[in-house]
Amino acid sequence: MKIVVVGGAGTIGRRLVPALRSSGHHVIVAGRSSGDVHVDLGSPATIESMYRQTGAVDAVVCVAAHGALDEFATLTSGALYENMRAKFFGQADLVLIGQRHCAGGASFTLTSGIFADHPWPHVTGGGVISGALHSFVLSAAVELPRGMRINVVSPTMVADSAGAFAQHFPGMRSVAMDELVGHYLRCVEGDDTGTVIRAYG
Ligand SMILES: NC(=O)c1ccc[n+]([C@@H]2O[C@H](COP(=O)([O-])OP(=O)(O)OC[C@H]3O[C@@H](n4cnc5c(N)ncnc54)[C@H](OP(=O)(O)O)[C@@H]3O)[C@@H](O)[C@H]2O)c1
Repeated sequence: MKIVVVGGAGTIGRRLVPALRSSGHHVIVAGRSSGDVHVDLGSPATIESMYRQTGAVDAVVCVAAHGALDEFATLTSGALYENMRAKFFGQADLVLIGQRHCAGGASFTLTSGIFADHPWPHVTGGGVISGALHSFVLSAAVELPRGMRINVVSPTMVADSAGAFAQHFPGMRSVAMDELVGHYLRCVEGDDTGTVIRAYG
């Protein structure tokens, strides 16, 4: 399969891209400054341009763009919107724009996160983004054209990020990288659609 991985040079992407390649897939890595093709999820025009450069792909995987930490006492709807721009609206645009560019039967695999289901201080934005992504995927699975599929992987803190993130999320379990990569492979190579995969360790 020809697959574009947005964020393929990042923490999860660095594990996922070699696994996809060793399964025989042709992988194109995309990022704002990293990778083979440049795209900013905050800019729909660059998403159009990415798809024009890749041509029709059989799978799109997004492992890019974090939600930011926030402070509930001073949070505003404007800040929430800004927080959602790349990770929620950008992933939604990958699908809304991509449905016109991708090959028949193509799959989309998005990434959300544990805060959709398990609230934690200072991640209201992260929770809202991920909850919205789960609902978006359920609706998109019903309406995508030409046999396209869509799923979302919702990780807890991943093992390779534990060193950097554990201070913000004391006591949170991490998910092993092999297990997490296996979930993405299942989304790309299997026939699931409309599935929210909760990789909570
Ligand atoms: N790491 C964790 O523990 C964890 C846990 C739960 C959920 N997640 C989610 O998993 C996804 C990937 O996480 P990660 O830790 O692998 O991220 P990461 O290490 O920060 O890597 C992110 C990658 O995405 C690209 N990127 C960032 N912003 C982008 C944008 N606006 N448009 C296009 N590309 C962009 C970056 O490359 P450029 O700088 O070149 O753009 C980079 O390659 C994120 O949505 C994150 O919230 C991660």
